[in-house]
This record gives sequence, structure tokens and C-alpha cells, in this order.
Amino acid sequence: MAVRILQLSDPHLLSDPDGQLRGVPTYQSLRQVLRHFDREAFDFDWVILTGDLAHDEQRATYRLLRRTLEERNTPWRMIPGNHDSRVFMREVFPETSGPGRDFFGFSMKVPGWKLLGLDSRLPGFVSGRVGRRQLAWLRRELGADPGTPTILFIHHPPVPVGCPWMDRIGLEDAEHLSRVVAAAPQVQLVCCGHVHHEFRGRLGDATVLAGPSTAFQFLPEGGEPGLRSHSARGPDPGTGRGAVEDPCRPASGIDLGSRSRLLSGAARRLPVRIPNHVPETGTG
Ligand SMILES: [Fe+2]
Repeated sequence: MAVRILQLSDPHLLSDPDGQLRGVPTYQSLRQVLRHFDREAFDFDWVILTGDLAHDEQRATYRLLRRTLEERNTPWRMIPGNHDSRVFMREVFPETSGPGRDFFGFSMKVPGWKLLGLDSRLPGFVSGRVGRRQLAWLRRELGADPGTPTILFIHHPPVPVGCPWMDRIGLEDAEHLSRVVAAAPQVQLVCCGHVHHEFRGRLGDATVLAGPSTAFQFLPEGGEPGLRSHSARGPDPGTGRGAVEDPCRPASGIDLGSRSRLLSGAARRLPVRIPNHVPETGTG
């Protein structure tokens, strides 16, 4: 039996459903990604959203996202990214508001696996931080189920992704998180957002994956909106390890018109600037 997870990342929604960011109608792009995979008859057990849900940090934007998620019967969990508002996330998604007031994470058990969501939002900054209190919570969660294969979800990748400007706006306390993960070999997979394109790396024994944005990509050549799907099987009785198939799914065939192609160039030439940070080519 496998647990099937649909990972959606970095939709960067706006309160106006027809609003555009960098020339891309982000809400329409999300809807097209979802429609694309509905056509493929994916039957997911969970939808996990890995941050940068709302670009404008507006209450109405989270309500728009909630209405969209409610159109499907698949339960969801989410974590914030650097663009999100914890206040409005708690208000609009109270059932997913996480384990404490300091952070918006989640912990849940699904057949054969434990799924842990971390909040790496650092208010006012594009880079991220887990923080000591949340790391202590993570140690407790991992210590409670040392034999259960575990997947971590976090917006900011805990390892360099090979892109200098992106790595400068990564996870500030990645070393601390790495030590916690290294002491918990049951962590097999770390799923991230923030990168806006496909990435695969390693953190100790764990695979690190970042998925595409459902809207715009930071690849020099652009790229299609997309998602990741994870099929988590196991654990194997002999090894205690689970297995995850994780195809990255560019939603080929999505037609956002010429705007999606203009986007890539615009994203490089006209970076969106956020207070406290002036990246070279984007904002994560
Ligand atoms: Fe993003």
C-alpha cells in the first residue's frame, strides 16, 4: 500500500483571481495545473502545499486558495513560505494551524509514514530560519517515532541548490537542521519549495527534493508550471526503510499563452524587490 502525496509549491496567488505576477496569471496557472492532473486521474491521499501560497499576504487570497482546495475531496496540509502571512493562514485554515503559536507546522501519521511540516518563514526576510524552539519540537517528534520512515516538508531547502542568488536566500540555520536530521536516520525525504524548479540533492541519508512552482519558474530557460507527486510505500519489514517514488511533473500542455514565455525573461531582467533583500535574479 502506498500513500500518494500531491506536492504543490509556490503558487504565489493574488487576491484578484485574474491578477498577474511577472506576466503570469498565478491563480489561473494553479487551476490549470490541477485540471491537468485531474485529467490524468491522479488519486491522491494528501495535498501538501510547500509555501509562498499568497504573494500579497492578503486574507482574501487565502480564502481564494481555500475555495480551490475545497473543490476536491483530498485533505490538505500546508506550511508557509517567505511571502506568506501566518496570521491569515491561521485564520483561514484554523484546522491546520500547527503545534504552537511560534510556527505553523504539522505532524501527522499516515500508513507506514510520518509527515512533518516545518515553518521556515523569517518575517521581513526572503531567507528562512527554523529556529531553536521549532528544532526542539522536531527533535521530540523524531524521537517519538524513531522507527517510522519520515518525510519533512520545509519551504527553504536545507542544502545549496547550486544557484548562487538562490543559495544566498536559503535556510540560515541549515546546519542546525542538518544535525537534527543526521541524528534521525528515519528521515528519508525532505520536500521543499522556494527554488521554483526541479532540484534533487542529499542531506545525510535523506533525499532532498524541490518542485516547480505552479506558476513561474526561475530556470534561465523558463519552464512549465508543475508539481511533484510522491508515492510513499513501506516500510520494508527487513530493512525498516520505506520507498518513495517522486516523479516531478511539469504540466506540459498547459497553455498560458505567450505570457508564460515572456515571464522567464522578465523574471531575470526585472526582479521583484522585497524589503531587506535585493536578489540578483528573483525573490524565491
Ligand atoms: Fe516562491
